[in-house]
Amino acid sequence: IEVFSASQTPPFLIEDDIDTSETVRLKYRYLDLRRKVLQDNFILRAQLAQTIRNYLSGEDFLEIETPVLIKNTPGGARNFLVPSRLHPKQFYALAESPQLFKQLFMVSGFDRYFQVVRCFRDEDLRGDRQPEFTQIDLEMSFPTEERIYALMEGLVCNIFKQALNIELTTPFQRMPYHEAVANYGTDKPDLRYDLKLADISDLCGETGFRVFDGAVKKGGLVKVLRLPEATDKLSRKDLDGLTDLVKPVGGKGVAYARVQDDLSWQAPFAKMISDDVVKHVNDRSKAAPGDVLLFSADTASIVNNSLSLLRSNMASRFGLIEDNTWKPLWVTEFPLFEKSEESGEWAACHHPFTSPVAEDVDKLLNDDKSGIRARAYDLVLNGVELAGGSIRIHDSETQAKVFTALGISREEANEKFSFLLDAFKFGPPPHGGIAMGFDRLIMLLRGVDSLRDVIAFPKTQRGTCGMTGAPSDATSAHLKELSITPNTQ
Ligand code: AMO
Ligand code: AMP
Repeated sequence: IEVFSASQTPPFLIEDDIDTSETVRLKYRYLDLRRKVLQDNFILRAQLAQTIRNYLSGEDFLEIETPVLIKNTPGGARNFLVPSRLHPKQFYALAESPQLFKQLFMVSGFDRYFQVVRCFRDEDLRGDRQPEFTQIDLEMSFPTEERIYALMEGLVCNIFKQALNIELTTPFQRMPYHEAVANYGTDKPDLRYDLKLADISDLCGETGFRVFDGAVKKGGLVKVLRLPEATDKLSRKDLDGLTDLVKPVGGKGVAYARVQDDLSWQAPFAKMISDDVVKHVNDRSKAAPGDVLLFSADTASIVNNSLSLLRSNMASRFGLIEDNTWKPLWVTEFPLFEKSEESGEWAACHHPFTSPVAEDVDKLLNDDKSGIRARAYDLVLNGVELAGGSIRIHDSETQAKVFTALGISREEANEKFSFLLDAFKFGPPPHGGIAMGFDRLIMLLRGVDSLRDVIAFPKTQRGTCGMTGAPSDATSAHLKELSITPNTQ
């Protein structure tokens, strides 16, 4: 025997089920990647990259690269900045997506573009968010929403066939944004289970229970989540513990009621609420004996976020989510603008180049912009936002109105986006597109909870690389070269 290369004893066993901490696994990522479970993730990832390229090439899409070092254009996600050595004190931004460049391809006559592309966003990280991630990005000229839905449904069906040998049914279900938020508290509802919310704000205000009345008087909402036949499954301690669950989204509490045989409520606050209100709430939420009702009362966003969180938590707790069930959903008719709860100003929900729905263009300059619908759509799969896109604005008149609506002056628009506005003087075709999160797709298909399992060398929750230690200090010589004053503290 000739030993080509000797090995130390690895810090953990190279097998599927290990309880080694993620910190150690990420430090020795090259050994972690030897494990079969992880190898399978990357084998699937590589195969699907081919499937996607074949499918889109077959539909006459052309893969063209766009720059990563770009001009910093504010709006959207926070960009990483890269100092320029050749231009002291000036910065590139790392592209958060190829958005504006792919629109320019439409002006160039590349009427069907796609790219498997790395994007960079300096965001707070979560299980389904990484600072660098991969999109399947595409744009086409003369599209309709229907054309884009059909194209993407074909792609997703191909992927499911290849990855899991599952035939998905098309067309996928569709739901307007306002319906998703009203019934599920989120714009990415998981439809594998049926728990729904009901708005009871109009029944509150004078109930006598200050938590409900106070929220309504402050312009907020009261909504209820009905948990069928849950009385025996949730102890008082479980119910009191729900408050901790909603704290991360700003929830201050969760009120609960157990529905008795005569449909009255057993609840800490029951005696404060009239039989009449109880009856109306029961009707609205379709409550039956043995159910538990969970209430949230606060601002609209806190109420929706709290109940959406409780909805998914209860579904897992009660085992309502069946394995191998896939519920793709197009969420449509997103609002064009949203009002920031902090600043009170209107901002674009998607980006300022998203086209409004034609009938709503007249409302662009109204004071209340909440009812203006965008030609934007998301593809949601089992509660995860898998893809998002829109039909874009291509006429300068509508674009000018949208900038005015956003409080962006002509000068400011010119300074930020002159290259795009100039290009649009040369006969841009109507165009639109979409981008799918490739890492999220693999995560769903492989049934793992974290993007870290499907990215070879991911960042930790704190944005660091557990193996190389990035980000790290720069030498003062390097900083000087970049005209950055070293921090002398
Ligand atoms: P959007 O910002 O919705 O749209 O991104 C598209 C898809 O990319 C995925 N994604 C992420 N995946 C992992 N980590 C992240 N930090 C992250 N952020 C986004 C999601 C999301 O649905 N230019 C537009 C697309 C368009 O309008 O055509 C865009 O980037 O799955
Ligand atoms: P308190 O009077 O603050 O002890 O609250 C009475 C009940 O209302 C408790 O069960 C709390 O968990 C619940 N509660 C408090 N704040 C809210 C809220 N914003 N929404 C729903 N329930 C709440």
